Amino acid sequence: MEPQRVTMIRHTLSGIPQHALPPGYSIRWYRPGDRETWLRIHALAEKEVPTSAAIYEAQFAADEPERARRQAFLLDPLGGEIGTASAWFNADHHGMPFGRVHWVAIAPAHQGKGLAKPLLAAICHRLIEIGHDRAYLTTWSNKLPAIHLYLAFGFEPEIRAEEERQAWKSILDRISGLKRA
Ligand SMILES: CC(C)(COP(=O)(O)OP(=O)(O)OC[C@H]1O[C@@H](n2cnc3c(N)ncnc32)[C@H](O)[C@@H]1OP(=O)(O)O)[C@@H](O)C(=O)NCCC(=O)NCCS
Repeated sequence: MEPQRVTMIRHTLSGIPQHALPPGYSIRWYRPGDRETWLRIHALAEKEVPTSAAIYEAQFAADEPERARRQAFLLDPLGGEIGTASAWFNADHHGMPFGRVHWVAIAPAHQGKGLAKPLLAAICHRLIEIGHDRAYLTTWSNKLPAIHLYLAFGFEPEIRAEEERQAWKSILDRISGLKRA
């Protein structure tokens, strides 16, 4: 079955869980030149969705100060960038302004270490600091680890059409299979 694009939504940003980074890891925010850092992390982590400098510029079409407050990089204990996620925005998500969790990725060598929840928590808290009170994200129906993570964070399937209802039934069935495995 072809992967389908799906949307998840958090109607409120209250009650975001707290998750501390493991010792030695840290988060820093975008600085000029980090487009290349972002591309390097995604080249390692993102096997399904294409990325390029042009895609980066289109996805993060904002000035440097906006990127500096919205785009995070996860650093390993040696200070190398090994993950990224963005506290982005959309002024018109079905007619309403929304915060947006955008392009989450952790390099494979650092996956499975419990880094994703602290990174996502930092992004959600940054959205709140910026003034957002709700958020959404888009992902793909085959990205089960990511969807599992977002569900744990209180993001819910956004279902507006029968096709989406069917996609979500299949996703949730596969996720409960994962939990049993
Ligand atoms: C999604 C991603 C960031 C998760 O990072 P990670 O380091 O593997 O995640 P963690 O080890 O910190 O686990 C965090 C949570 O993710 C989910 N998760 C991670 N791997 C999983 C797996 N194999 N199966 C099911 N859930 C999984 C779980 O909810 C897990 O929490 P739990 O351990 O308490 O159940 C990472 O897999 C990634 O970069 N994937 C490639 C890029 C991508 O798909 N990004 C999402 C785009 S929308």
